[in-house]
Amino acid sequence: MDNRPIGFFDSGLGGLTSIPYLMNTLPQERVIYYGDTARTPYGSKAVTTIRRFSREITDFLVESNVKMIVIACNTISSTCLGELRQRFPDIPIVGIITPAAQEVVNQCDTASRIGVIGTKVTIASHAYRNFIEELKPELSIFETACPAFVPLIEEGIIDNEIMDMTIRYYMDDFVEKNGLDTVVLGCTHYPLIQENISRIYPQLRIINPSSVVIGQIDRILTARDMHAENSDFTNVFYASDLSENFVNMIDHIFADVDEDKKVKFMNFDLEKERKNGLL
Ligand code: DGL
Repeated sequence: MDNRPIGFFDSGLGGLTSIPYLMNTLPQERVIYYGDTARTPYGSKAVTTIRRFSREITDFLVESNVKMIVIACNTISSTCLGELRQRFPDIPIVGIITPAAQEVVNQCDTASRIGVIGTKVTIASHAYRNFIEELKPELSIFETACPAFVPLIEEGIIDNEIMDMTIRYYMDDFVEKNGLDTVVLGCTHYPLIQENISRIYPQLRIINPSSVVIGQIDRILTARDMHAENSDFTNVFYASDLSENFVNMIDHIFADVDEDKKVKFMNFDLEKERKNGLL
């Protein structure tokens, strides 16, 4: 048993899409979340920059005494997982791509035609293709970057014709030319437009890594006997810029979560705290 919180982080609000699944599946687990809203999006930045930001956030989570770190971001998982595990060898660090790749292999057969959508950095890393091919080389994988999705989602432009047009702009040819029957949402922001994608392409099976990663968290907690038995607690969500959009998206993301789940949102600027000598 281990009642310490699980640390989640993302470049912004995308990683929040995993939290309702965690709350429903493992309701006794306490969460500390860090969304780097001041510096999002990461998905078109240089890998060296993403590594630096990720180190700062994991240091903060470790200092907050988390028992496990979940990289609820495909862009960071695809570029920094190995380095972060080396930096903190004693803390289990879960990336979002490996469990999702396993789920693709579980759900798809050799006739499947699988499309992965993600940020520029995730797609350029070929992390999904590499992990999936390692597990089942005969699967057909296609990849495409959709860099305008994250800024629109962070702006709350979702139930909207502009979002539908943007989805069609990136995905019409991709789906049709490759004859896709499956799409992997290779960015934690994308579950927020899953309904749009399903409506535009009803034939597609959608694999959502934000929910799949919860199974991996559960397996690791079980293997290490680290499940919590918390009952009355508050989940804390830090943002480097507690913007109006971030706060507005909370209702949308937490719509199906029980009212009694307590959540607290706080602004926390890592760079400023470091300069002040607080970290
Ligand atoms: N949510 C992040 C991911 O899963 C990316 C968003 C960004 O570009 O910052 O890749």
